[in-house]
Amino acid sequence: MPAELSIGTLLESEDAAPAKLNPAKFNRHTFWCGQSGSGKTYALGVVLEQLLLHTRLPLVILDPNSDFVRLGDIREGASAEVRDELATRDIRVLRHGDREGLPLHARFLDLPLRSRAAVLQIDPVYDAEDFNVMLHIEDEMQSMLRTGGMATVTEDGALVKFLRGSEDPARHRLATRLENLGIADWDLWSWGRDSVADVIDEKPDATVVDLGSFGTQPEMRSAALAVLDHLWLHREDRIPRLIVIDEAHNLCSPEPETPLHRLLTERIVQIAAEGRKYGLWLLLSTQRPSKVHPNALSQCDNLALMRMSSSRDLDELGSVFGYAPPSLLERSPGFAQGQALFAGGFVNTPVIVQMGARLTHEGGIDVSVPLR
Ligand SMILES: Nc1ncnc2c1ncn2[C@@H]1O[C@H](COP(=O)(O)OP(=O)(O)OP(=O)(O)O)[C@@H](O)[C@H]1O
Ligand SMILES: [Mg+2]
Repeated sequence: MPAELSIGTLLESEDAAPAKLNPAKFNRHTFWCGQSGSGKTYALGVVLEQLLLHTRLPLVILDPNSDFVRLGDIREGASAEVRDELATRDIRVLRHGDREGLPLHARFLDLPLRSRAAVLQIDPVYDAEDFNVMLHIEDEMQSMLRTGGMATVTEDGALVKFLRGSEDPARHRLATRLENLGIADWDLWSWGRDSVADVIDEKPDATVVDLGSFGTQPEMRSAALAVLDHLWLHREDRIPRLIVIDEAHNLCSPEPETPLHRLLTERIVQIAAEGRKYGLWLLLSTQRPSKVHPNALSQCDNLALMRMSSSRDLDELGSVFGYAPPSLLERSPGFAQGQALFAGGFVNTPVIVQMGARLTHEGGIDVSVPLR
């Protein structure tokens, strides 16, 4: 019998019939939505645990709230069989700073030129002059990298020195930008150490990229871009991967405001449109469909919908996801926490599910009301 993912029970079934997803259909993009507190992240965890148990599909999880940093910590209640099985999975958690886990670094000079420009908040059209300077020093820098002058630009602080070492005022402007934005000091850059790309290339069962541990949004977004660029640039390797993006609106918005956000959105839309044949499959989770770029949304063949009370959002879902029956969509406002509608390729027919219990610990901590 082909593998099935047990995710809970069918709501309103007799004897709480088990709810199953078809793991083979994660070779399509998936959209996951529901309002804050509906249980998206918890339920997503249930599905990811099942994928870890029943498939060899490497998971790359972009985790903006540090919710999956304990994906390797099995709960007391899990059966011995599950415990033994999960314990053998290779789960790497990459975190910024000196938090517990592996260090999260990216190589600045491995980023494509446009990405590096975006990190410096330089847009090729709106900041044409500065972008052009980057274009012209590119050959020089890449040849230094090839000819072993490499250390001079990869060492901490050396990139600024390299730019300042020239007579060209345009290069000085770039150095000033790097310094003023504090980019050269970001702990994200590997400066010769291992990078997140090296870890992903080892194909662990799960790579959790803890984006929640960064102090600023540009640094967090740069880390995400480094991961997505790497996967995209190596797409011809055709290694299947599920790229899970919780709070996807942070990275893929209909109205991105900065060059970095624009490029991230573009990259995710590109993966949504063309990634499928290369084995790059997305799972995008967010609170409202209108917060994610419509060109990414419209490529999703699987839908998981949790509680959502806005009729406008439900109408939008109905129009984008024609395979989700309106009679089930309209029940979403009445869902309790942990209840979800599943529709699309990964279920035989659309179903409403009461999600089962997590096998591993949640990472993020909800803040409780202090009582007297
Ligand atoms: N099925 C469930 N069983 C037990 N607890 C749950 C369940 N679903 C959610 N919770 C708990 O409810 C809280 C909110 O859930 P969760 O963080 O998954 O919501 P969310 O939809 O991701 O919200 P947000 O959009 O704000 O991130 C968490 O503390 C979680 O532990
Ligand atoms: Mg969440």
